[in-house]
Amino acid sequence: MVIDQEAFKEALRGWASGVTVVTSRSGNKLHGMTVSAFCGVSADPPLVLVCANQASTTHGIIEEGGVFAVSILASHQEDVSNVFASAKYEDSRLQQVSWTQGETGAPLIDEALSSLECTVASAHREGSHTIYVGHVQAVHTTNAEPLLYYKGSYRSLHRDDY
Ligand SMILES: Cc1cc2nc3c(=O)[nH]c(=O)nc-3n(C[C@H](O)[C@H](O)[C@H](O)COP(=O)(O)O)c2cc1C
Repeated sequence: MVIDQEAFKEALRGWASGVTVVTSRSGNKLHGMTVSAFCGVSADPPLVLVCANQASTTHGIIEEGGVFAVSILASHQEDVSNVFASAKYEDSRLQQVSWTQGETGAPLIDEALSSLECTVASAHREGSHTIYVGHVQAVHTTNAEPLLYYKGSYRSLHRDDY
């Protein structure tokens, strides 16, 4: 069956999500990118997943390093999302924001709503992306409100100016 690409993309644009920054470390290389394809998988054992484009630099570092961290962005971190999605800042993203090195060595974005530190439990290549399942090694939470993404725009729970 041939799927109309525009209809496919339009259907996915209607999926409202949070926004994360997924970071990784391999040796002394640190890198990260904005990711909305994230979800919890299992509570016992604690597993989450992220989908990373195989063409992304972050994908290569996760593959090499075997670890990643997910920083779930808070509502005031739209700028952080833009930096970590932008090719312009590709080589200097971590110099644009404040962050802390986590237990696995992957950076954790300061002021994120929550962060989860993972070791790669399994990797599944599908189409252009790889689904990385992460075994959660450490969790950090706050009571901040989430940054949301819907139909190509950032949203927040209590903003009524759309
Ligand atoms: C809101 C938003 C969500 C995104 N979600 C994903 C995602 O789930 N997976 C992915 O591979 N790229 C995603 N991207 C695109 C990457 O952030 C972008 O391609 C980035 O420049 C890749 O960086 P890198 O090649 O330096 O790792 C998203 C971008 C935005 C703005």
